Amino acid sequence: MKRIRINGPAGESLILSGGTVDDVVTLLPKKGLFIITDRNVKKLYGKQFPHGEVIAIEPGEKSKRLKVVEEVCSRMLEAGADRSSFILGFGGGVVCDIAGMVASVYMRGVRHAFVSTTLLSQVDASIGGKTGVNLGEYKNTIGTFRQPEFVLCDHEMLKTLPEAEVRSGMGELFKYAVIRDRNLFFDISASAGQIIAGNMAVTGDLILRAVRIKAGVAKDDPFEKGKRRILNFGHTFGHVIETHYGLPHGVAVANGMVIAAELSVWKGEMAHSELSLLQTTLGKAGLLTGHKLPANVVSMISRDKKSESDRVNFVLLRSIGRTVIRRISTFELQTFVNYYNEKESHSQ
Ligand SMILES: NC(=O)c1ccc[n+]([C@@H]2O[C@H](COP(=O)([O-])OP(=O)(O)OC[C@H]3O[C@@H](n4cnc5c(N)ncnc54)[C@H](O)[C@@H]3O)[C@@H](O)[C@H]2O)c1
Repeated sequence: MKRIRINGPAGESLILSGGTVDDVVTLLPKKGLFIITDRNVKKLYGKQFPHGEVIAIEPGEKSKRLKVVEEVCSRMLEAGADRSSFILGFGGGVVCDIAGMVASVYMRGVRHAFVSTTLLSQVDASIGGKTGVNLGEYKNTIGTFRQPEFVLCDHEMLKTLPEAEVRSGMGELFKYAVIRDRNLFFDISASAGQIIAGNMAVTGDLILRAVRIKAGVAKDDPFEKGKRRILNFGHTFGHVIETHYGLPHGVAVANGMVIAAELSVWKGEMAHSELSLLQTTLGKAGLLTGHKLPANVVSMISRDKKSESDRVNFVLLRSIGRTVIRRISTFELQTFVNYYNEKESHSQ
């Protein structure tokens, strides 16, 4: 098991990569433990849950609503939770987002930690200290910054993940490589088959490299005012595609990365050969869907958290492994979207 410390906007977390539930029992209180999970995870791993009150939400993105946060808080109140209670989110990104948010608002905040059970949450959702629920079709519009005390990433739990969820996690795994580490990009590509086949030695090593990148970026910019924005690469277009077409988060991010790379070439920031390399690699990994951007994409992006007045802070690429941040006007963005959709219609 490897220990990595990661800084977030609201403190520090200890990431335990490659451990098991037994390794964290001593980090939990003897009483007052509330386990927030989803029904799938409870069915698979309920026997491994430490002793505590279990609250299971419906699996999936549809649970990322304020109503669910309210329901979980009510269940906790009924079960006698107070300010000394401790929340353990046990599940994927949806569970971590809900559990983290409940931990930050229940009685103005209680202690919390995660057991992270999907590839996507082990490399991203559980380890950054951001919580959030969706507001209608707008992703993560309501949320808080709240750092979990620890995050256990038991790689063996990934063996029960459906293949579609493993691929989705690979989308976020690739993101770290694309923004920061060209060698990691080629390594993930070469290992894609083994990741899908459940080779945990290979997958665990790649997860660790991604977590170290996130820890390095977050350390210098915990409040996401500058450098940390690069972690959102692919998410501006990705979030719109995710809600519009109902794609898994990581698949939407992979497609969003290719569109952001197209924008990078269109803006003269990156050579076309790099875009082709990205497209071929993500395509081979089964991550590209070739969806067009919806007609209202620019208005949706303007309401995104990355927008300020009529400009959007975009993370673009100079090459695979190197990013640059540019402010782009909504007018210019619309011109690009027209160009992109026109090109996509010809290629279909
Ligand atoms: N807060 C953040 O910083 C952050 C970052 C990235 C993504 N996210 C969010 O994370 C969410 C996606 O997370 P996700 O991909 O983990 O989805 P998820 O939590 O919906 O899990 C995917 C599916 O896998 C099931 N599952 C979980 N663990 C399992 C296991 N070990 N074996 C078998 N099945 C298992 C779940 O029940 C669910 O059906 C999105 O809402 C996204 O916005 C948040």
